[in-house]
Amino acid sequence: MGDLAIIGGTGLTSLEGLEITQRELIHTPFGEPSAPLVQGVLNGREVFFLARHGDAHTIPPHRINYRANIWALHQAGVKRVIAVAAVGGIDDTLPPGALAIPDQIIDYTWGRPSSYFEDELSEVTHVDFSYPYCDELRAMLIEQCRAAGLSSCETGTYGATQGPRLETAAEIERMARDGCTMVGMTGMPEAVLARELGLNYACCAVSANWAAGKGDGSIISMAEIEENLKSGMDRVRQVLTLLLARL
Ligand code: HPA
Repeated sequence: MGDLAIIGGTGLTSLEGLEITQRELIHTPFGEPSAPLVQGVLNGREVFFLARHGDAHTIPPHRINYRANIWALHQAGVKRVIAVAAVGGIDDTLPPGALAIPDQIIDYTWGRPSSYFEDELSEVTHVDFSYPYCDELRAMLIEQCRAAGLSSCETGTYGATQGPRLETAAEIERMARDGCTMVGMTGMPEAVLARELGLNYACCAVSANWAAGKGDGSIISMAEIEENLKSGMDRVRQVLTLLLARL
């Protein structure tokens, strides 16, 4: 059985070409995940798919039940997770449509249930999170970006914000000073929950827009985000297809 799952974000609520073999809404001790867990075959490989914002893209980032989502994957036997995520580009190297494989995270979210180690503990537990993403999975993503002839940002710091509103230009300036190269709303606590359950986790980020105040500084529209994500997600699909073929 396959042990790889893809979590799809904005712009990727299903996997084109996936021959679905099973769709199951998994109940977890933390409630229900965003959507049924889809199992299927893509490019001859078994893979799981979960739509982070729900099948109809109705769950905003701060309302996602991250604990249920990651628990459901773990319960299904998943060992490796590729999280696809739309981001705003802070660094000059991340114009709309560009891909990035971040290697660090700064968490600006608040009030989200962000640990499995809270209740009924036999001892207090702290997971190591120095390097939040799995290097092996990152290397595979980078290799397949190169194989597809796509230039991608091969490192970078993902700044996770609370949303659902976009940031102010001053907040983005501060994030840039902090060292963030991209900004998104779903990277945390997803990544740390995967770490707590021992899942290997990496992110394939797609720049949907220049972050607030970046680029020519114009305001950000949903229409612009959707348009850029169309081409960006086509690139992600290419990378995922190649990656599955290599597994
Ligand atoms: N900010 C936060 N999250 C995002 C953005 C952004 O500009 N674009 C896509 N996801």
